[in-house]
Amino acid sequence: MNNLLIDVLDGKKVDRPPVWLMRQAGRYMPEYMEVRRKVTFLELCKNPELAAKVTHQPVDILGVDAAILFSDILIPVEPMGVKLDFDPAPVISNPVRTQKDVDRLTILEPYKDVPFVVETVKLLVKDLNVPLIGFSGAPFTLACYMVEGGGSKNFIEIKRMMHNDYKSFSTLMEKLTISTIKYLQAQIDNGCPVVQIFDTWAGILSPCEYAEMVLPFVNILVDNLKNAHVVYFAKDSATFYKYISNLKCSCIGVDWKIELDEADMQLGTGKFVLQGNMDPVILFTNREKIMNIAKLIVDKGKSLKGHIFNLGHGILPNTPVENVKYLVELIKNGCQ
Ligand code: CP3
Repeated sequence: MNNLLIDVLDGKKVDRPPVWLMRQAGRYMPEYMEVRRKVTFLELCKNPELAAKVTHQPVDILGVDAAILFSDILIPVEPMGVKLDFDPAPVISNPVRTQKDVDRLTILEPYKDVPFVVETVKLLVKDLNVPLIGFSGAPFTLACYMVEGGGSKNFIEIKRMMHNDYKSFSTLMEKLTISTIKYLQAQIDNGCPVVQIFDTWAGILSPCEYAEMVLPFVNILVDNLKNAHVVYFAKDSATFYKYISNLKCSCIGVDWKIELDEADMQLGTGKFVLQGNMDPVILFTNREKIMNIAKLIVDKGKSLKGHIFNLGHGILPNTPVENVKYLVELIKNGCQ
C-alpha cells in the first residue's frame, strides 16, 4: 500500500511530495473515452463497476499516489429534487429561485438516494493500492448551480438571492450543508481516508460576502466530519485567506494565482498542509516549461508543513496525455 498522501496529511516528513491531479480521470484520456463512448456521463457516474474502472485508470496509467472517486459534485443534488443533465456542462432545468423552491428540496439520505456512490467506494477500497479520496461540492458552489440552473457568467441569480432573500438563501445553504455532511460521512465510513470539498465558485464573491454568508456553512461542514482528513479547495480565494485560515481542516487546495509560501503566510504559517498549485494550461506547453514550473512549486513546497503536488484546477479536455505522464514521473523522481 502506497500511503504517502496520508503520511503527509498526518504531518510526517517524506522524501518527495505525493502527486495526484484534480480531474485525473476524464476526457483527455483515451481509455476514459473508450468507456464513455458506450454510456452517458450520468450513466457512468451511477454504474459502480464502470465508475470504479475509470477511477482506477489514472492510478494504473499515470501512477499517481491517490485515486479520486469518479463522480460529479452535482450527483447528490439530483435526488434532493432538481432535474439534472450534462451537455457536457451541467444543466438544471428547474432552478431553485424562491422560498417555495427551497422548501420542496429534501435532505440527502446517501444510502437510499445515491447507493451507487457507496457501492463504488466499497468496490474501490477492496483493490486500490493508493488512498481513495472522496469528495463533494461545497454548499455555496452547489447552491450556485441550483439557483443559476447551470454554469454562469455573472452569477446574478445567486447574488440576488443572497442579498434580496437571505432567508431562502440560508435555508438552501442549511439543507446543502446537512446533506453534504451525510454524503461525505458515508464516503468516509465506507473507506475514504481523505475527502476534498470543491468550492469552485467561492471566488466570485467579495471577501465580506464570503466571510458572512458562506464561511459559516463551510465551518459547520468541516467541523461535523469525523475520522478523515479534509481538504478544502476554493478557487480564486487568495484574497480571503485570512477568513479561510479559521477552518479546522488538514489541508487547503491552492490555485496558481498565489505562490505556495505566500499562501502559507496568509493562511497562518505552518497551520495547513497545502495542495497545488500548477496552472493546468502549463500541461499544453512543453517538457522544459513543465519541468521548470514543477521545480519551482516543489521547492516552495519544502518550506511548508506538508505539500501535496497537484494542479491549481482540474485537467482540461485535450491536454496531451504524454505531458501528464511526464509531470507525474517528474514529481516521483524528485524533479530530476
Ligand atoms: O477529479 C476526478 O477525476 C473525479 C471526477 C470529477 C468530475 N467532476 C468528473 C467530470 C470531479 C471531482 C468533479 C468535480 C466537479 N464537477 C467540479 C469541481 C471541480 C472543478 O472543476 O471546479 C465542478 C464545478 C463540476 C461541475 C461540472 N461537471 C462541470 C462544470 C462539467 C463540465 C466541464 C467539462 O469538462 O466540460 C462537469 C462534467 C464532468 N465532470 C466531466 C467529468 C469527467 C465531463 C463529462 C463527460 O465525460 O462528458
